[in-house]
This record gives sequence, C-alpha cells and structure tokens, in this order.
Amino acid sequence: MKYDFDAVISRHNTGALKYDFAVERGKPADILPLWVADMDFATPIEVSDKLVEIARHGIFGYSESKGPYFEAVHQWFSRRFGYHSEEAWLIKAPGVVFALSCAIRAYTETGDAILIQQPVYPPFASMVNANERTLVVNELVLDNGHYRIDFDDFEQKLIKHRARLFILCSPHNPMGRVWTKEELRTMGALCLKHRCLIVADEIHCDFTYPGHRHHVLATLAPEIAENTILCTAPSKTFNLAGLQASNIFIQNLALRQKFIRQMDSSGYSQLNTMGIAACEYAYRYGEDWLMQLRDYLAGNRDYLRHAIGARLPEIRMIEPEGTYLVWLDFRALGMQAAQLDHWVAHQAKLWLNGGASFGTGGEGFMRINIGCPRALLREAVDRLEQALHTLPARKNQKEKL
Ligand SMILES: Cc1ncc(COP(=O)(O)O)c(C=O)c1O
Repeated sequence: MKYDFDAVISRHNTGALKYDFAVERGKPADILPLWVADMDFATPIEVSDKLVEIARHGIFGYSESKGPYFEAVHQWFSRRFGYHSEEAWLIKAPGVVFALSCAIRAYTETGDAILIQQPVYPPFASMVNANERTLVVNELVLDNGHYRIDFDDFEQKLIKHRARLFILCSPHNPMGRVWTKEELRTMGALCLKHRCLIVADEIHCDFTYPGHRHHVLATLAPEIAENTILCTAPSKTFNLAGLQASNIFIQNLALRQKFIRQMDSSGYSQLNTMGIAACEYAYRYGEDWLMQLRDYLAGNRDYLRHAIGARLPEIRMIEPEGTYLVWLDFRALGMQAAQLDHWVAHQAKLWLNGGASFGTGGEGFMRINIGCPRALLREAVDRLEQALHTLPARKNQKEKL
C-alpha cells in the first residue's frame, strides 16, 4: 500500500469536535471517540500541499471557482457513476445540511409534510422540525439482519400526508444500505406519481464495499433527474468536513432558480478559499488514495465482524454495504436508550452515537465510526469486551465455569 492508513495521527488539541470536547459534553476525558462522521486519516497529500501553498501566499480574500473546479467535480461523477452534469446545474454550498434546509424552505411551506426514512442521520428530522414543517416517517424494516423499505407504507405516507418533499439518504447513514437500482427506481417513481420532490443526499456515495454499487438517483430516468435535488460533497470522501464545501446539482431550471433565491436570501455567497481548492484537488488527484482507503475500510469492517462474532456475542453487527459507519444492535442487553448511552460512555469508555438520536427504530442500537486506524478499532473491541464482563449475565457465566 502506498498510503499508511495504520498510522495513528493524534488529533488531540487540534479543535477536533470528535476528540477535544468530551468533558464539555459530559463524557469521561479518557473516552475513545468513534462517533461523528469524519475520519482519522490525513487527506491526500496533493490536497494538503495545495492548501499549504495557499497558506504561504498569505492572503485569504474572497475567492470563487473557475472552469477547472467544475471540470474536476464533473469528471469524478461522470467517470465513477455515469452522472453527466452541466456547469449551470451546479450550486456550491457550505454543507449538505445547509442545502437540505435551503431545499426545505425553497420548496415547501410551513406545516407541509416532508418524508424521511428513519433511523436516519439526525439533521434530516431536525431541519424539518426547525423549519416548522411536518415530519412524516417511513420506518425502515429490519428483516433477518437486513434493512428493507416498506414501499406500501412509503406510498401511503406520500398520499395521506401529501408529502411535498422526500429526503433520501443514499447510501444510508446509519445502517449502511446501498440502495439497489430497483429500490431507487421504485422510490423515484412513487415520488413522481404523487408529485413529491426528492432531495437525494448522496454524500456517502464513494464508500461502497465489494459487491455493492452506488447509483446516482438522477441517472435512473430523465423524469427522476428533473424531480431531484442532488447533494454531493468531497467532505466524507476525502475527510474535508472542516473546509465546508459541497456541490448541489439541480437540473430542473425552475427548481434551481427557487433554490438559488433561497440561498441568496440566507446571505451566503462564496465558498471559503481553502474549501474551493481542496475540493478541486481532491477530485482531480485523490482517486488512487480513495481506492486504497476503500480496501482498508473493508478490512476494518471484516475485523469488526470477526471480533464481534468471536468476543462480543451480545452485540450484533448490521453488515454495512457502504459508508464507514456501522450500526450495532445492543438490544440483547435489554437497556433503555439513556442507560445504554451511559454504559457505553462510562463503562466501555467509548464515544459512539446513540441509536435513539436517529429516530424511530433506533433505540437499542449504537453507531460506530470505523474510519480510523485498525489499532483504534481493536482498542474499541477490547473496551467493549471488558465492559461486557462487568454485566451480571456474563459474571454469572464466568462464575459457573
Ligand atoms: C447523510 C449525511 N448528510 C450530510 C452530512 C453532513 O454534511 P455537511 O457537513 O456537508 O453538512 C453527513 C455527515 O455525517 C451525513 O452523514
């Protein structure tokens, strides 16, 4: 391997949200943080070299992208996903969550119903609520360790609540489903049938495991493309979340104009200087790095699956098809959500995301972030194993032996 993803790079005292705010957030100081969705890997060297060059120049005035920026983004999606965009469709935004909120305000009115599929990335619900729209949930169904969509419920919810907007998470955070073409086509067709716009959050598109392929929703049919706001970003792929750059594609002119009006009224204008450069350089030079990272993450996933099977029988791993986030089922421990959160943080000394924060169906689960050197994942398994030994059921078992 050309890149050393095993290297543990300290992020303490860097202002990292993941590492430096445990005590402020009521966690033990020596907790191992595998929560918020950024990775503990350095971005491709071509990106950091470019940022150093800009830093050395020393002037950080207003910046704007030119043709090569679009070319780099366009080439990436065209080459990797067969999504062929035009420069006019692209709107740059400081983040995907910012874009979700803009879309909610651009396309719906106060009180309108918005459909999401929980358990899901918490800002989907919080943006709907914060904008005073009505949250409607199509709960994902766990069948034999595999999540699937209840399409009857999906359609009934669209009809009954007259949902104006559906926020799709593809691939899905937290349980790592990579939706198949058929699943995406069905959702796309139902939304068209019931006149519901789709905001497709495809921020995790670059992380799929062998045997699974991400399909950009807008490639499935021209009429679906016309009904879709596609949200992408280099931030998950290349670990650039702190640079705040995302690319939103809106092919439909009327929808695009509405979105732009909403962005303009928010007072936002250009991306930050570093974000523009990092995005362009990452998409232009980062593919080799990403290919090796994907192999490394597959190794992390395999390690976790084996370790859980062998040493943590109380916990079940939902096999992820994509993303570097893994959804763990702790329901066998029989703890309430708050009790489980507390036990994981204070007994196992692990900072994970509590499942209940992902909404309906999340209670009893935890999300772990495996975008880290394997040594940290080993440490996490050791900590969980030790914590499980302290539980009465395990203690009794040991005493019997
Ligand atoms: C599905 C999903 N959308 C959006 C985001 C955040 O995007 P941004 O930082 O661009 O707002 C995340 C981060 O975890 C995510 O998982």
